[in-house]
Amino acid sequence: MPLMVSTDLESFSLAEPPPGFVDDPYPVYARLRDQRPVHALGSDGWLLTRHADVLAAYRHPAMSSDKQAEFAPRLGVGTPVYEHHTTSLVFSDPPRHTRVRRLLMGALNQRAIARMEAPLQAQVAALLEALADQPAPDLIEHFAAQIPVEVIGNLLAVPPAERGPLREWSLAILSALEPRPADAVLARASAAVQEFCACLRTLVAERRRRPGDPEADVLTRLLQGDAEGELTEAELLHNCIFLLNAGHETTTNLIGNGVHALLTHRAQWERLRAEPGLIGSAIEELLRFESPLQLNNRRALEPVTFGGVALPAGSFVTLGIAAANRDPAVFADPDRLDIGREPNRHLAFGQGAHACSGMNVARLEGRLAIGALVARWPRLALAGTPERDRRVRFRGFRRLPVRVR
Ligand code: HEM
Repeated sequence: MPLMVSTDLESFSLAEPPPGFVDDPYPVYARLRDQRPVHALGSDGWLLTRHADVLAAYRHPAMSSDKQAEFAPRLGVGTPVYEHHTTSLVFSDPPRHTRVRRLLMGALNQRAIARMEAPLQAQVAALLEALADQPAPDLIEHFAAQIPVEVIGNLLAVPPAERGPLREWSLAILSALEPRPADAVLARASAAVQEFCACLRTLVAERRRRPGDPEADVLTRLLQGDAEGELTEAELLHNCIFLLNAGHETTTNLIGNGVHALLTHRAQWERLRAEPGLIGSAIEELLRFESPLQLNNRRALEPVTFGGVALPAGSFVTLGIAAANRDPAVFADPDRLDIGREPNRHLAFGQGAHACSGMNVARLEGRLAIGALVARWPRLALAGTPERDRRVRFRGFRRLPVRVR
């Protein structure tokens, strides 16, 4: 592709990526992996693109997730969006991280996940029937985005009537994490944090008055704390917001990207249709092939070495999940979609101490949504030009027009 050949690899930046990158970042990632696997991003630090280096960074004890230093100049200390992101467990180190994660993992137990399955199946079936009545069905708006909001809404028991703004809040808050967010984006993100907190305060007060079953009710569990103590009010609110955000945008994109990939690789769609038992490995492959979260970040607390390059203490390091997931050193023929691929050591859910706490929730949603879609509408096809989300961190579609027959 000529665009990619003319790309100056040395000056490649995620903040101002070259034309065409958002549509198809993989050729650039392949060249970086090959020629500049530890790539200097100027004042933005370093980008790792090889699977081995990304994995090593996830597991390195000196690689911090605390983002206060990084977010202070970008988000503004004291703004609601700064407070939110720096209080959530994903951007914290021990001891806060350990405490919040333990509580959350206890709440996202097998029993809580098993309870999601029946209502989720019913919701998916209803959405699939309703697709046929849509004059212009959009797989994102009318299907993919509906599912996670209900799952997380159920998990935290947000009353159905109050779920309307969750998606917009989530999108606004996460957009502040792009490499160079505009002032208007930051203002919208802070407003969304405040509105979200107000909604949660009411829920929390209600749950304090009438606690649920802590074995199955996530909010009750988070409220009760454990032997090590309780979460502060700010920790509770911001981690609930984080749970909604973490589980929402990413899973919408797993479903949207997954369906798009299958429709544009029709033989794989037909294969799944013929062998529905492949749904488990299909979801893993779709997570690898079009990872919903393409980048993670860390900061080196000590001097570290990745791929033979020594980085000084304080270095910001971007972990290229999407690039690692196409690394030929780990995945044979990595640009080929193969829904039966095994083993599949993808890094779509991260690794190490911060590995995704909701991965089994996401897998369940992906399996039920895509499995049922292929079975119900086997002739599903794209109907018009999909509209891609233009962000580099979250990969997905804003609109995915389809026809069901
Ligand atoms: C396809 C969907 C999903 C993808 C691709 C995804 C991806 C990730 C990744 C890569 C991380 C690691 C972040 C880091 O190391 O800095 C992460 C963390 C996390 N995810 Fe997910 N996620 C998904 C769905 C979910 C769902 C459904 C939930 C909740 C129900 C969830 C909750 C979390 C939480 C709480 C963390 C933070 C864990 C920690 O810091 O210890 N995620 N996710």
